Amino acid sequence: MTMHEPQSQSRAAGAPQTPADVHSRPLCLSGKGVTKVFGVGGKQTLAVDHVDFAFHEGELVSIVGESGSGKTTLAKMLLGLLSVTEGEISFQGKPRDIRTRRAKKEYWKGIQAIFQDPFSSFNVFNKIDTVLLDCIHMTGGRRLPYAEKTRLMEEACSFVNLKFAELTNKYPFELSGGQMQRLMIARVFLLKPKILLADEPTSMIDACSRATILDMLLQLRDEIGMTILFITHDIGLAYYISDSVYIMEHGRFVEHGTADEVICAPKAAYTKRLIGDVPKIYEPWDLSTV
Ligand SMILES: Nc1ncnc2c1ncn2[C@@H]1O[C@H](COP(=O)(O)OP(=O)(O)OP(=O)(O)O)[C@@H](O)[C@H]1O
Ligand SMILES: [Mg+2]
Repeated sequence: MTMHEPQSQSRAAGAPQTPADVHSRPLCLSGKGVTKVFGVGGKQTLAVDHVDFAFHEGELVSIVGESGSGKTTLAKMLLGLLSVTEGEISFQGKPRDIRTRRAKKEYWKGIQAIFQDPFSSFNVFNKIDTVLLDCIHMTGGRRLPYAEKTRLMEEACSFVNLKFAELTNKYPFELSGGQMQRLMIARVFLLKPKILLADEPTSMIDACSRATILDMLLQLRDEIGMTILFITHDIGLAYYISDSVYIMEHGRFVEHGTADEVICAPKAAYTKRLIGDVPKIYEPWDLSTV
């Protein structure tokens, strides 16, 4: 057996290691010519423009692009929250079929999301224990004794450093943004989806909690082999955590490949410009200029 070589000497020490075989694993989610046009007649916006992609089981893929490049629109199509104008999405190697409510519910057992604005992700009229209980019920735990359900909810909260006892009887809007984001990860912990779509999941929290959240996501990926699609503006962060990177500009993927290929040897001018905005990837910080 040959040893797996570290991908790059330039990758930060302590960065998560790409599993050696990740790109040869079965496809989890893929798409061909996926397109979204908003509006009709003369007032149309081409938000996502014929993108192709192939994400493997257990792969951590970052989608990087500036504001308005189409990242959230693509994420919503992948989730089935927005219709696809053109193109085809496949889930676990088969064309995705979410035409009926029932099929959509089944699909959502396999794909979950954490959004930029966590407040939009919950039904504000449901208390937090209901939010978590729903996850247990969705995964077949409806008939479990209540004590076991409570144990599962406590375990999920403690995974994200929240105290379940302090959350019961609260509504989502009574939490801080950071607590809310951790609650979303607690949901993921309970649902154990095949795919997690994380759209700027750390946007509302400080740098320290941000590292903790990322760490939790990576731990979940290692434990349950989840594919993570991480959507971000931050190409430096994408480099640090990803196996693969897709660069999105004006609704198109202008470049994709392993994190090292795309970021250490970028081909597209747009990628070069994004990298140019974060000199710290290559250079030690010169504090005298800060
Ligand atoms: N519901 C909508 N109706 C019309 N246009 C929309 C709609 N949602 C998004 N758009 C447009 O589609 C384009 C892509 O938007 P999108 O939200 O996908 O960008 P993004 O890459 O997620 O940006 P950000 O980084 O700021 O979150 C933008 O021009 C936006 O104005
Ligand atoms: Mg967005």
